[in-house]
Amino acid sequence: MREFLIVYYSRSGKTAMAARMLAEMLGADIEEIREQRSFTGCVGWAKALICALKKEGARLVSTHSQAGDRTLILGMPVWAASVPPAVLEYLRTVQVSKPMYAFCTLDGSGSKGLFKKLRALAPNLSSNTLAIIKPAKDVERLRKTLLAWADAIRSSAGRGA
Ligand SMILES: Cc1cc2nc3c(=O)[nH]c(=O)nc-3n(C[C@H](O)[C@H](O)[C@H](O)COP(=O)(O)O)c2cc1C
Repeated sequence: MREFLIVYYSRSGKTAMAARMLAEMLGADIEEIREQRSFTGCVGWAKALICALKKEGARLVSTHSQAGDRTLILGMPVWAASVPPAVLEYLRTVQVSKPMYAFCTLDGSGSKGLFKKLRALAPNLSSNTLAIIKPAKDVERLRKTLLAWADAIRSSAGRGA
């Protein structure tokens, strides 16, 4: 069994790109959270915003393993300065005993609100979180950012922090 499990949600592929890079760096298992509703394209964007603002629930069509002895790393986009409904639903299904890590991707602001919400739901969330603004704009910068975060996770997860 691998040391890390990365679970991510991504509407338009940016968080997915970062999650896959990080998985390669950490040699981690990786799972995608998928939900029943489709949010593709411009109409999907508007639909997603309404769902987020109305705090609608989500029905997942993906199945997930428990992290077990692995360290869980969650990745997601910021939606209306908070956590997307699919990730909220995922969090209802998992039990995490070890410190958990999280990163988000976003266009500008809202990561503070997202991590605050996440911490309320998962008190074992590590303070070592990562917010990546416009990850697809500069892939080399993204790689460097993720490499530094992967190193920090390896050392703090090793200390059980
Ligand atoms: C419904 C919705 C709400 C969003 N809200 C925010 C926001 O509050 N702040 C922000 O900076 N970006 C916001 N964004 C932009 C996304 O967080 C950003 O583009 C992200 O990198 C997309 O990741 P993805 O490609 O993995 O879905 C929002 C996007 C959507 C679809």
